[in-house]
Amino acid sequence: MTDSRSRRLASVAVLGGGNMGSGIAQACAQAGLGVRVRDVDAAAIDRGRGLMEKMLAGAVERRKMSAAQRDAVLGRVTFSTDLDATVRGADLVIEAVFEDEAVKRELFEAIAPLVDPDAIVATNTSSLSVSRLAEGFPRPERFAGLHFFYPAAINKLVEVIAGRSTDPATLDALERLVYRLRKIPISTADAAGFCVNRFFVPYLNEAARLAEEGVANLATIEEVGRELFGATLGPFELMNVTGIPIAFHAETSLFHAFGPAYAPSKRLEEQFRAGRPWDWKSAEVDPGRKAAVRSRFLGLTIGIATRLVEEGVASPEATDRGAIVGLRRRWGPFAQLSEVGLSEGLGLAEAYARAWPGNFPVSAQLRERAARGERRWPLRLVRVEQDGPVAWVLLDRPEVLNSLNSELLGQLDATFRELEGAPGIRAVVLAGSSPVFAAGADIEEMRGKSHAEGVEFGFLGQRAAERIERFPAPVVALVEGYALGGGLEIALAADFILAAEGAVLGLPEVGLGIHPGMGGATRLTRLIGRARTKMLVFTGARVGAEEAYRLGFVARVVPAESARDEARTLAETIAANAPLAVRWVKQVIDRGADASTATALHLEAESAGHTFATSDRTEGMTAFHERRKPRFEGK
Ligand code: COA
Repeated sequence: MTDSRSRRLASVAVLGGGNMGSGIAQACAQAGLGVRVRDVDAAAIDRGRGLMEKMLAGAVERRKMSAAQRDAVLGRVTFSTDLDATVRGADLVIEAVFEDEAVKRELFEAIAPLVDPDAIVATNTSSLSVSRLAEGFPRPERFAGLHFFYPAAINKLVEVIAGRSTDPATLDALERLVYRLRKIPISTADAAGFCVNRFFVPYLNEAARLAEEGVANLATIEEVGRELFGATLGPFELMNVTGIPIAFHAETSLFHAFGPAYAPSKRLEEQFRAGRPWDWKSAEVDPGRKAAVRSRFLGLTIGIATRLVEEGVASPEATDRGAIVGLRRRWGPFAQLSEVGLSEGLGLAEAYARAWPGNFPVSAQLRERAARGERRWPLRLVRVEQDGPVAWVLLDRPEVLNSLNSELLGQLDATFRELEGAPGIRAVVLAGSSPVFAAGADIEEMRGKSHAEGVEFGFLGQRAAERIERFPAPVVALVEGYALGGGLEIALAADFILAAEGAVLGLPEVGLGIHPGMGGATRLTRLIGRARTKMLVFTGARVGAEEAYRLGFVARVVPAESARDEARTLAETIAANAPLAVRWVKQVIDRGADASTATALHLEAESAGHTFATSDRTEGMTAFHERRKPRFEGK
């Protein structure tokens, strides 16, 4: 997500004030957006408003929100039956009427002449094809899918679905909107079940199937589901809470798309037709049957997840993120696959597939990786996006505010090492993939560390920081949201920090019983002196971007809205200058800071002298003479 040049979405129209529509409207209003909700008649509107008021009352009761905040949220939402007045002038229209293709298409045709030409229209669907729905809309490039998970006001996951003709700028704007709602987007292709439901709904069905086949009783299946996926609810309790009919209908639509392996089990259908909740509590867990249930659940989940990636529906990272954020599981399918090992995971998927000859293909990628002896499926926690001479290095664990675990720190080090050898990179922007830099080292991981592991962890962070500091070309850290603890320590290793308004920076480690160990205390001292560093570190104070600028460890504060554009412009400006001169002066400044003044001055003169031997010097001065822009080649 490096492109913020696309339109910012400020006013939202939501069509349909039912369970999903009212939840979506609430999430938007909570993020400060003005929302207009449209439903067909006064009764539907009363119901929608009632749903929202109930959700908000619950939030006030749980002290998640004050009464004043609740009133402010409600004050940002208006309800109406007037379609024209609702959608006209809105930057974004989210359709959330019930799951019926004909009804939705009719609605898109009706709003087509009313919406602004550059407004984005999104359908909230869990089962219909976004591309087919887009056919009813004259600007399919501005049309996409947004799949909010129930309850939409609370669940943090949103699948952002690209239709066949959706423009990348539309997806980018929607992704940014999702972050603004304090939710986590995952991108998926327009395939049945998108990403999460493709493996989640068959898991619910599999629970019923296992019972139907007599593999185990409900209590055992329920317990294995909870333990295996690290979830609070097992499959039967989940279905009771979210609705057995929903599970049945969702599985039926997967069956239509993918065939018999996805057929709803008879047991699920019976339960649905009887309208009864599952009763798993009246039986005893049978420990001897747990292994069989576990193998089936794993075979199914690994089999489907690896196919999702092979079919290009979602990345492995998005798939795991979907499970963790949307389903509140402790692990995603790919982490589980790595835990059991690729060879065993392949065996489990193949065993599952044997029951469905020709209908449950096993991922060729999984076979190849297992045949190569790979044990783990690699997950990228650091992404690189190259934009001409500028490389964006993006910390990518948005579900935990990019907190830095060992894996991420190792990948950060490896990323900068690889970039050292990459040709043509003249500047790097180090940022979060979401509008957050990093909320510290991973506290969950640190909790389990011994003394020796704590020392090793500090050095791991220091190696990554040093790699960034010594990177030959300039590295700009763009801090949006949070740069706390280890996050700030890593940012301080960049050549300078650009902070977005509203960003919060600090070294709060002493509040956790530890202190900075990745070089933050040392680097900050060299930057702003001992007294200011001590004030910050002893108090653990979290300061705003402006305060950090005044204290001297942020080089510039930029508006939050345009932070990425500012970082891009700055990096492009650096990249347009003579690359060797920039690299060498970086070394002069850094080495000079550690040397005596006399040595530093000598180093500076000598290094500057060397620039006279470069062809970039000839080009730069000739271009000045000829009144044109120089074209530097780094020679
Ligand atoms: N390590 C591990 N997980 C972290 C984390 C960290 N440093 N910082 C945030 N997270 C996780 C949260 O546990 C939460 O996970 P969950 O959704 O599974 O519960 C998720 O990231 C979102 O954070 P949350 O606290 O819900 O967001 P918020 O907007 O309410 O608060 C912060 C944001 C940054 C103020 C708060 O997360 C925080 O104080 N984090 C720790 C900061 C810190 O002490 N860092 C120094 C460590 S060296």
